[in-house]
Amino acid sequence: MLFNALVLLTAPTVFTLTAAEQAYNKSVKYDSGLLGSSPTQSYVAADYTPVQLNYEVPLTDSTAAKVSPGLLFFAPSAEAAEPGPLIIKQDGTVVWVGGATYPQATSFHVEPYMGEDHMIIWSGDLSGVGYGWGSWHVVNTAYEEVATYTAIGLPNSTLADLHDSHIYNGDRATMTAYVTQAYDLTPYGGIKNGYILDCVVQEINITSSEILFEWHSLDHVDPSESYTKPLLTGYNSSLPWDYFHINAIDKDASGNYLVSGRHIHTLFSVDASSGDILWRLGGKNSDFTMGTDADFSWQHDGRWRSANTISLFDNAGTIAQQDRLSSRGIVLNIDTAAMTAELVNQYLPSTKAISRSQGNTQVLENGNVVIGWGQEPLFGEYDSAGNQLWELRFAVSSVQAYRTYRFDWTATPSTPPSLAVIGSDSNRTAYAWWNGATEVATWGLYGSSDSGESVNLANATRIDFETPIAFEQLENYTSYTVAALDASGQVLGTSDAVTA
Ligand SMILES: *[C@@H]1O[C@H](CO)[C@@H](O)[C@H](O)[C@H]1NC(C)=O
Ligand SMILES: *[C@@H]1O[C@H](CO)[C@@H](O)[C@H](O)[C@H]1NC(C)=O
Ligand SMILES: *[C@@H]1O[C@H](CO)[C@@H](O)[C@H](O)[C@H]1NC(C)=O
Ligand SMILES: *[C@@H]1O[C@H](CO)[C@@H](O)[C@H](O)[C@H]1NC(C)=O
Ligand SMILES: *[C@@H]1O[C@H](CO)[C@@H](O)[C@H](O)[C@H]1NC(C)=O
Ligand SMILES: *[C@@H]1O[C@H](CO)[C@@H](O)[C@H](O)[C@H]1NC(C)=O
Ligand SMILES: *[C@@H]1O[C@H](CO)[C@@H](O)[C@H](O)[C@H]1NC(C)=O
Repeated sequence: MLFNALVLLTAPTVFTLTAAEQAYNKSVKYDSGLLGSSPTQSYVAADYTPVQLNYEVPLTDSTAAKVSPGLLFFAPSAEAAEPGPLIIKQDGTVVWVGGATYPQATSFHVEPYMGEDHMIIWSGDLSGVGYGWGSWHVVNTAYEEVATYTAIGLPNSTLADLHDSHIYNGDRATMTAYVTQAYDLTPYGGIKNGYILDCVVQEINITSSEILFEWHSLDHVDPSESYTKPLLTGYNSSLPWDYFHINAIDKDASGNYLVSGRHIHTLFSVDASSGDILWRLGGKNSDFTMGTDADFSWQHDGRWRSANTISLFDNAGTIAQQDRLSSRGIVLNIDTAAMTAELVNQYLPSTKAISRSQGNTQVLENGNVVIGWGQEPLFGEYDSAGNQLWELRFAVSSVQAYRTYRFDWTATPSTPPSLAVIGSDSNRTAYAWWNGATEVATWGLYGSSDSGESVNLANATRIDFETPIAFEQLENYTSYTVAALDASGQVLGTSDAVTA
């Protein structure tokens, strides 16, 4: 852990030493579990214990110059001390801890709701076997929840699943859902009075709750296309056979849907008006000739990146099976005239391994690529040529994160900054934090006595999620406040008054 000298802008006495919880660099102690199976960051006064990170591939001067701007978004799973959404800086320090509000978040990402950046965060109940029932929460740059939505009118009141959602045209949202249905499984090796999961794409108008599109996998994709068998599933409605496993939906320029069926090893192009399948990329009935290393299996996060390129996360394996040496992010060139798919680039982790579930491939505007390794607690960034720039680990144990993204995110909470003043008489330290604020550059501490107005006691540069502000108690102050200032010295917010 790095101990930084505390910088006071003007200080009568020099107070020193406080910890900034930056990521470790190739810490052997971290990787070997000597720091615990899930190391955490901690603060003096702020009551949060987000994951501590370790660079497996640290930045160098040359790679640091190529890193994209923006913050990293991921949500450590329930195995973490503080599960739920986290926004962090490149140095591993935390900007936002969202687990108190959204403890079971899986995907959360920035989408253009009503034309402005909002986070959408899934929250709900997990089935325990890879899908869920919940809703999507739309959160603005003041961390106010401005809308929620879920699936409408599905059989058995089935709610939106955890895997994917995107917002289009201001207030249209796509989402995935898993509907349990009675089904004859005898053709597939199961029982006659069995149960199956019908995977649903639904698009709604968030404002009017109107259903704009709905597609059911069982209407278009026969279970014989699956690479799974019912085996121990399908005997009852608590554990239906998950033959399709929808995990991503995207739209192309004409509005047709790109639907990922993990257990079919296929991305489906689905006609936006009829729901007909226009083509299958991958799987048993692929309409494309797959070039060298273009084939994929057990995939996640299929997304159009241009009119003729698709990115996806190729898990290439499960708990029971390994199709390649390693999972990888891939970008494919799709030629819908020649019906060929060619590998453009692939992105591999520093240590080749199969991520048995989850994962994503995000292509950024500058061509850099961010990969979240899903079940493996790792994420990293690559330049457009495929060179790895850095890789961070966020746990040694079974902690996972469904996806990891990078976004430009400028946010100022509508709730005030927080302040705690600890110590006695002449030796007090103030601790300031503001969960989610991205623009705080310095903190200004103020003391008020019964008699007089407030006095600016000290300033401190923001060094971490929580910043200590040492000051000398020259007078008896009955209360303290802290002001958060941006880089130009503008006050962004002021805490409530606290007594020491
Ligand atoms: C890791 O290395 C970076 C770049 O050299 C450095 O800025 C950072 O302080 C280091 N982190 C720790 C915890 O030592
Ligand atoms: C609703 O769920 C039950 C099992 O809980 C199942 O038997 C039934 O088929 C489902 N209904 C529909 C319309 O899928
Ligand atoms: C959604 O519904 C609202 C209310 O009817 C309407 O104003 C809005 O234009 C609709 N949005 C889209 C994208 O059609
Ligand atoms: C459903 O089937 C699974 C697998 O056969 C079994 O483990 C489970 O106990 C069953 N659940 C119920 C509610 O019958
Ligand atoms: C001030 O208080 C801190 C604990 O809050 C203590 O570690 C430090 O030694 C004290 N300094 C003096 C000069 O008393
Ligand atoms: C805090 O910073 C402001 C603005 O730069 C400055 O005017 C003020 O004197 C500083 N206060 C202290 C206690 O150093
Ligand atoms: C601060 O308060 C204490 C006890 O209330 C008192 O003894 C002391 O003189 C006060 N100091 C100042 C500078 O007012």
